[in-house]
Amino acid sequence: MSSLRDSAPLLDAYLSYFEVKRHPFTIPGHKQRASRLDAGLGLVVDSDTPLYGGLDEIKLTNQVLKRAQLLAATLWGADYARFSTGGSTHANQAIILALGKPGDKVALSRTAHRSVLSALVLAGLEPIWLTPEIDAATGVPIGIAVGEFEKILDQGPIALLLTEPGYLGTMSDLPALIEAAHAHSIPVIVDAAWGAHFGFSRHVPAHCLAYGADALITSTHKALPGYSASALLIAQGRYLNFDRIEQSFETTHTTSPAGAPLASIDGCRALLQTRGEELISELVRNIDAFKSAVQSHFDLPIFLNTSDFPAGRFDPTKIVLRANQLGASGIEIEKVLQTQFIRVEMADSDTVVFLATLADSKEDFDELARMLIPTLKAQEKTPRPTATSLSWSVVPTVAISMRDAYFAETQMLLAENAVGHISADLIAPYPPGVAVVAPGEVLTKTILEGLSATKAAGVRIAYATDPNLASYRVVKP
Ligand SMILES: Cc1ncc(COP(=O)(O)O)c(C=O)c1O
Repeated sequence: MSSLRDSAPLLDAYLSYFEVKRHPFTIPGHKQRASRLDAGLGLVVDSDTPLYGGLDEIKLTNQVLKRAQLLAATLWGADYARFSTGGSTHANQAIILALGKPGDKVALSRTAHRSVLSALVLAGLEPIWLTPEIDAATGVPIGIAVGEFEKILDQGPIALLLTEPGYLGTMSDLPALIEAAHAHSIPVIVDAAWGAHFGFSRHVPAHCLAYGADALITSTHKALPGYSASALLIAQGRYLNFDRIEQSFETTHTTSPAGAPLASIDGCRALLQTRGEELISELVRNIDAFKSAVQSHFDLPIFLNTSDFPAGRFDPTKIVLRANQLGASGIEIEKVLQTQFIRVEMADSDTVVFLATLADSKEDFDELARMLIPTLKAQEKTPRPTATSLSWSVVPTVAISMRDAYFAETQMLLAENAVGHISADLIAPYPPGVAVVAPGEVLTKTILEGLSATKAAGVRIAYATDPNLASYRVVKP
C-alpha cells in the first residue's frame, strides 16, 4: 500500500533525512545528537531537522518546499500557497502587512483573533469594527450580516477580514458577504484557523476560496493532524499582489523554519487529497453518534447542533457543550474532567468546547461519553438562560487609533480609577483570544466588571499588564 510520503515531497524529504547517516556542519546546533549530552534533551531535539540543510540543501537546490506549496495551492484551487511554522498568527500578519499602507482602513469582525489585531498595529491599518449577529436561541455569534458590512462601505475599507468558522463553529453567510465586497472590488481575507478540513467532504461546509474569497489562513495543527504552530496561507491573485504577500511573509517569518511543521503541512495536504472525504465523513458520523449517546440522558438540547443554524453555517465536527442548559458551570465541568486527564479546548461558564479531529476514533468518543455522562449528571441543576459571553458581545468605544495607543506613553491605574481612560493593552479571555478591549479603546465600567467576573469564573485573562486586573495600563492623558 502506498503511504502519504509517496505523494508528499516535504514529508518524504523529512523522513529521508533520517534514513542516511549525516555529518552536519550546519545549524541546528543539536545536530540530531543531543542525546550524547543528555537523554532528555535528545528526546526533544534529535528528531528535528530544518528546511535549509535538512529537508533541502542549504541553497534550496531541490526546491522541495516550492513543490509542496504548489501542490497545496492546486488542491485548494488557488494560485499561491505558503507554509508557515509560526501558526495562523504569522499567516495573519503576513497577509495583513501586504494589504495597504499605514492609515488605510480595513473592515473586520470584532470576534477576530488577537493575532489579527496585532497585525493591524504592525501594519498601521485602522479597524472598522463589524459586530457579529447573535443567535437568540443559543446566544452564540453567527457571523457578520451583509447589512453590517454594507453600512460601513462609505468609510472606504480596503479589505474585509473575516473569521470563519468562529470559535464555536458558526459562520457568516460567506457567499453573500464575498459578493457584496467584490461588488466594490474589496478583497476578502478569511482567517479560517479552525476550518482546515472545510471543502474536503460533503458533510462539512465548502472552504472560503471555493466561495470566491481572496485569501485563506488556516492552522494545520488545529482541525488537522499537523505539527504545533503549522499553518497555511493560500491566496488568489485577482485583488491581491503576490509579490507583496511574499515580501510580508518573509519579513515576518523565521529564517530558520523547522522541518517537522513544514513536512506535516504537506502530509496533511496529501491526507486531505487522498482520504479527506472518507476520514471527515467518518469523523462526522462518530461525532453525531457521540452527541446522541450523551444527549439521550438529558431533556434539553445540551450541544450546539447543525439544525440550530441556517444550512451550511455550522461546522458539524465541532463539539460545543451548552453548560447553561444543564444549569452547570462549564468551568466546574472542565475541572472534574481534568481529574480524569481529559483536557478540553475551552471552557467558560456557559460552554465547553471539545476539539475533535481526524485523529480521534470511535473508541475515543465512546470513552469520552463514558466519562462525560456521569460528570454532567452530577453537575445537573436548574437550566439557566444563555448569557452571551463577554468576548462575543462587546461593542468598543474607540478613542484613538490602536497603533497610536500601542506606542503611546502609558501609566498603571488602579481598576477603580481606570474607568473612562484609554486602554494601552489588548485584553482577551483566552481561549478564545477575542479582544474585550483593544489598545486605543475606552475602559468602560461594563468592560471592567465583565473582565473581573470572567476571571472570577475561572477563565484565564490574557495579555493584561496586571494579570490580576487590580490595575490597568492606560494611555497617559
Ligand atoms: C481564529 C483564530 N485565528 C488565529 C489563531 C492563531 O492561530 P495559531 O495558534 O496557529 O497561531 C487562533 C488561535 O486560536 C484563532 O482562534
